[in-house]
Amino acid sequence: MSYTHIRWDISEDRRTEYAISSKTSQLARKTADAVAAKAEAVELSPRYAPEADMKQLKRLSVKTLSLFSGGGGLDLGFDRAGFTHYASYEILKFAGETLRSNRPKWKVFSGENGDVTRQDWKSLLGTVDMVHGGPPCQPFSIAGRRMGKNDARDMFPEFVRCVDEIRPKAFMAENVPGFLSAKFSAYRKGLFTELAKYYEITTFVVSSDEFGVPQARKRAICIGVRRDLGKKFDHVTIRKASDKRGVQSALGLSLTSKDGPAPTLRSTLTGPRQTTSIANSTASVVRWKEYGIWPHGISPNATVARSFPTKDGTYRMCVEECQIIQGFPLSWEFYGAVYQRLGMIGNSVCPPVAYALAKALRDQVFND
Ligand SMILES: C[S@@+](CC[C@H](N)C(=O)[O-])C[C@H]1O[C@@H](n2cnc3c(N)ncnc32)[C@H](O)[C@@H]1O
Repeated sequence: MSYTHIRWDISEDRRTEYAISSKTSQLARKTADAVAAKAEAVELSPRYAPEADMKQLKRLSVKTLSLFSGGGGLDLGFDRAGFTHYASYEILKFAGETLRSNRPKWKVFSGENGDVTRQDWKSLLGTVDMVHGGPPCQPFSIAGRRMGKNDARDMFPEFVRCVDEIRPKAFMAENVPGFLSAKFSAYRKGLFTELAKYYEITTFVVSSDEFGVPQARKRAICIGVRRDLGKKFDHVTIRKASDKRGVQSALGLSLTSKDGPAPTLRSTLTGPRQTTSIANSTASVVRWKEYGIWPHGISPNATVARSFPTKDGTYRMCVEECQIIQGFPLSWEFYGAVYQRLGMIGNSVCPPVAYALAKALRDQVFND
């Protein structure tokens, strides 16, 4: 596993305080589990069905390779847009399990076999038409320490190596908006100099709430189209939704008079704690509370969530509700512990966004 552990710099007093609070909530969770075991199963009744915004398109013969596949946000979007899945590479075993369980026919490499740094891609030249991936974003993240190429988690060079060895017709890389900031302009130039000889590269930022997803989530997108194809990618014409969706309405709730897209879900797979909170900043906690929703201590399912009321009376969510807020259909099942499932969700490209991007590529590049 290539993630570097970030030391958690806190005082002994704070550490003791966290340990006590963690023990207390563990106890409360155990009690909730016992109550839930006897309770009648609670069914969710969301009003947002992401699959309705991702109509399955006719299958194209465009073979698509997925790197850093995580729990499959990009993979699912490209699949629904009709691209033919060639293979997925992902270092985390539980993420590989998630992909395999949802799409048993897909070729999924995970664990050591899914480590992109260990692959020689040259044999795929002429086979794979499209490569997509979201190299780990912590090196460019505002939440992280923004060390860019000096960060051991910077996997962008590996993505570039793959594209360079395969020379697909097009590629798409996704990352946090920080990747496109002025701070990393020299880094980007160095990264793309070689590829720019063969690819027309377009970079832009997308916001999930413009695609019907009930969450404000910005992501940087880099799309390259091989120059010999004589085609250009125009991001301005990508189809967006007419209205923004509120999180309460998406979940079928009416808790407060204020509704709007949820704050960006934090990506929880890495970092010092295995947290079950989806809040990514103090400001986001304030916003969640305005919506009457508690963003911490996400429950494994709705029955446990209802058996475990929050102290301040706000609504406790379960993993499936976070899945909906990220634009995953409920039919897509995530495997692993709660923090792992939340991590895959929070790390993903919202599938409806991936779908819109894939559809635009289909219409503009793979339209022969
Ligand atoms: C930002 S997430 C990608 C999310 C994915 N694009 C989606 O839409 O669901 C980055 C992923 O890269 C994986 N990863 C990190 N280092 C890797 C490596 N060396 N080989 C393969 N996967 C790796 C992480 O485990 C993580 O799941």
